[in-house]
Amino acid sequence: MISNGSEKTVAKLHVNGGTKEVMIRSADTLLHTLREQLGLTGAKRACENGDCGACTVLVNGEPHHSCLSLTIETINKSISTIESLLDSPIQKTFIEKWAIQCGYCTPGFILNCHALAEKHPDADDSVIEEWMESNLCRCTGYHEIKEAIGAVLAEAKNNPAS
Ligand code: FES
Ligand code: FES
Repeated sequence: MISNGSEKTVAKLHVNGGTKEVMIRSADTLLHTLREQLGLTGAKRACENGDCGACTVLVNGEPHHSCLSLTIETINKSISTIESLLDSPIQKTFIEKWAIQCGYCTPGFILNCHALAEKHPDADDSVIEEWMESNLCRCTGYHEIKEAIGAVLAEAKNNPAS
């Protein structure tokens, strides 16, 4: 389906519950495809080296650094970006807890937190800290982010279907 080198080929991606057609090269990163082809700019371009987590998206429910993921490897997988959580309770919790300042890191933290709440709603502080090590914030000092994550997990535990 995909050719070698720089030649572009049509591929279908499952993004945010829909199917989108994109033109990709074999070396294109998922971050590049999401932002430049699909206009999903919630995944942020920062270090592009796997260090900061600003580019985090979910692939089959697992957090991935999209700057290090090849688009070609996500064909037939389910991709979720921050745009899928617009006006969600988790977004509102981050706002209510003041877990956002400049906001550049926020999409990555919210998606990572969403995956944690789905997979490990009983996570204790040490698990939360370990889970969030993949994401950096230059503004908040993390205290408010941890509070927001704690509130999201408490809600997930009390209302598993929400
Ligand atoms: S931009 Fe992907 S980890 Fe920093
Ligand atoms: S809110 Fe600015 S980097 Fe986290």
